[in-house]
Amino acid sequence: MPVRPLKLAVVGATGAVGRAILEELEDREVPLSVVRLFASPASGYRTASLRGDELEVEPLGDKSFRGLDLAFFAAGPSVARQWAPKARAEGCTVVDVSPAFRGEPDIPLVVAQVNPQALSGIESGGLVASPSGAAVALSLVLAPLHRFAGIDRVVATVLHSASGAGREGVRQLESEVVALLNGEEPEPSESSHRMGFNLVPQVGEVVAGGYTSEEVAVGAELRRLLDAPDLRATATVVRVPIFYTHSVAVNLQTSRKLAPDEARALLREAAGVKVLDAPGERVYPMPMLVVNDDAVLVGRIREDPSQERGLDLFIAADNLRRGAAANAIEVALLVQEQIEQRAAKPL
Ligand SMILES: NC(=O)c1ccc[n+]([C@@H]2O[C@H](COP(=O)([O-])OP(=O)(O)OC[C@H]3O[C@@H](n4cnc5c(N)ncnc54)[C@H](OP(=O)(O)O)[C@@H]3O)[C@@H](O)[C@H]2O)c1
Repeated sequence: MPVRPLKLAVVGATGAVGRAILEELEDREVPLSVVRLFASPASGYRTASLRGDELEVEPLGDKSFRGLDLAFFAAGPSVARQWAPKARAEGCTVVDVSPAFRGEPDIPLVVAQVNPQALSGIESGGLVASPSGAAVALSLVLAPLHRFAGIDRVVATVLHSASGAGREGVRQLESEVVALLNGEEPEPSESSHRMGFNLVPQVGEVVAGGYTSEEVAVGAELRRLLDAPDLRATATVVRVPIFYTHSVAVNLQTSRKLAPDEARALLREAAGVKVLDAPGERVYPMPMLVVNDDAVLVGRIREDPSQERGLDLFIAADNLRRGAAANAIEVALLVQEQIEQRAAKPL
């Protein structure tokens, strides 16, 4: 934890991730001296609450980042591309949770417990990208297994909750479920198929080879986070009709044999991971067990009889908390600690 209280901004403070960042700051008792909250000029929200105080929500402007240590960007890629450079020019460090910079090799893509070494040398005014919610959860589980046994291949089926589509996704699912339970036809959404009592096998835009952007990102981000450029990975991402928490059914092949008991033992020691794996007693990860929690749940760990050195497992993690807010804050605190330590060292 940094020693000096932080001066920070949350851009997108009225959105699903922005609110989760405010909750995390509160839960973790991060010392703060200045907090500025930003949303679009048209935001319907004029205030947001933090630690019992109602803080003003402002539109972004030229002086928004002046004098601040750090800014969380949770307002989507176009806002990040436009405003992150302005924040950096004021010496304000940026942690962006959008996909804007995740694929840029010069910008660190970091999960605090997985590859903190990628932050070394970062200065005030630096920029760090936080991965997609699914990649954060997957990397926390796969990193210890990869370190011990090497992972050659990953096949992931990601079950994306409605809140993965932000505030609007939650509203859409809510109104559809209410309409359907009342025997009414829900209002059609312009941007998505019906989520209520449905499964939609498309999250993100369709890109090369018929994959979606979210599916391609899972493999690309895992290769960077695990420092495993040769990792073979494929994903199917499906929107499922629950409000919060992404779940992932994972099949993997390791370089050397890893028994389920060994995997369980490794994961019991892993930071941020909780093993729930007693299927005979109906104990396993489920979204309802982890909403508003920062842990990644893993269970149903079993040997895959269809291949050599194969394992199957099931993961659940809150996409807004663990998948975005908790990681963004942990990364920001690591960066700030480094900056303070460097400033305290005699020349
Ligand atoms: N949802 C997830 O599970 C998740 C997980 C990891 C990463 N992410 C990423 O996080 C980002 C935010 O996602 P979200 O789910 O929180 O979306 P969201 O609920 O739609 O929130 C978007 C936020 O951005 C603000 N905003 C929009 N235009 C703006 C502008 N011109 N200036 C300042 N603020 C502006 C909105 O404010 P208004 O009140 O004005 O609309 C709102 O606060 C996305 O890039 C997403 O990919 C999301």
